[in-house]
Amino acid sequence: MIEELSKEYDIHVNSQRKSDLDEWVAHYRSFAIEGQTANYIPALRNAHLSQLGITILEPGGTMIKSGDWEVPFTLQSISKVLSFIAACLGRGISYVLERVDVEPTGDAFNSIIRLEMHKPGKPFNPMINAGAITVASLLPGDSSQKKLEFLYGLFENLLGKRPTINEEVYQSEWQTSHRNRALAHYLKETNYLESEVEEALEVYLMQCSIEVTTEDIALLGLILSQDGYHPVRKEQVIPKKVAKLAKALMLTCGMYNASGKFAAFIGVPAKSGVSGGIMALVPPSARSGMPFQDGCGIGIYGPAIDEYGNSVAGSLLLKQMAQEWDLSIF
Ligand code: DON
Repeated sequence: MIEELSKEYDIHVNSQRKSDLDEWVAHYRSFAIEGQTANYIPALRNAHLSQLGITILEPGGTMIKSGDWEVPFTLQSISKVLSFIAACLGRGISYVLERVDVEPTGDAFNSIIRLEMHKPGKPFNPMINAGAITVASLLPGDSSQKKLEFLYGLFENLLGKRPTINEEVYQSEWQTSHRNRALAHYLKETNYLESEVEEALEVYLMQCSIEVTTEDIALLGLILSQDGYHPVRKEQVIPKKVAKLAKALMLTCGMYNASGKFAAFIGVPAKSGVSGGIMALVPPSARSGMPFQDGCGIGIYGPAIDEYGNSVAGSLLLKQMAQEWDLSIF
């Protein structure tokens, strides 16, 4: 995929890190039995529990892949980062932040409780469902198709290809998304939703159903690690201010009510999805001689998730990497 984006991008492999990764992937694969696939979305139930794959991309062209890096999976909540960026591009940062805050909740991703407890019911952040459904309604365009087109345009600009939708996952969620519908109705009643309920839901669930591989989300992570500069296309594709906001939200809210533990024990901005994907990144380091000193993007897939909705094996793999390679930003 990256090869298609630029013929001049010089791709190479760091073989020592590749062999470390291969060993860790083989080891952590078996930990998937401690989790389950997201069985609240019927179409995700049948994923292979023991799959684990990773892609790491550095701005200079080093690319390391291991395990099931090529298995397609749906973005799910990782799409919330993309739609937040798209809404900021289309409507401006202050417009978006008037309608969704940037505070972590410590609650489950689909919780409704704070909307009513904290008046006036502004969603706490764009990474929880209430915030993401609001953000979906803010995307430019007066129909779900136009809003999605705007989002797909950003996806294409970043990854150099049109997104593919997993229709089965979409239909499966559309039919079972009662809590998201409840959230959307509540947000409509409190005037945070800018479109009709069904329209916002369609956009939100379609963005969740975009199919990717670890390579795609590693590239998204890499672009964010470079503050919105696309190192393959050699172009600023996301304004620096928006990229920084997105990273702060990933660090503080990206792993839901495990975000604190992630910051404490892994220490890099990351965003998970219930299909088992994790998009993470390492910012460039001021300390010389560090691994990934110029930063990197990391894409992980391991479909068995824990009670927070985060990949079990993927989180353990990321923790191992963060400890061995001293990746924490703190
Ligand atoms: O709203 C939902 O239920 C899903 N489509 C997305 C949730 C998700 O990925 C939460 N993440 N860990």
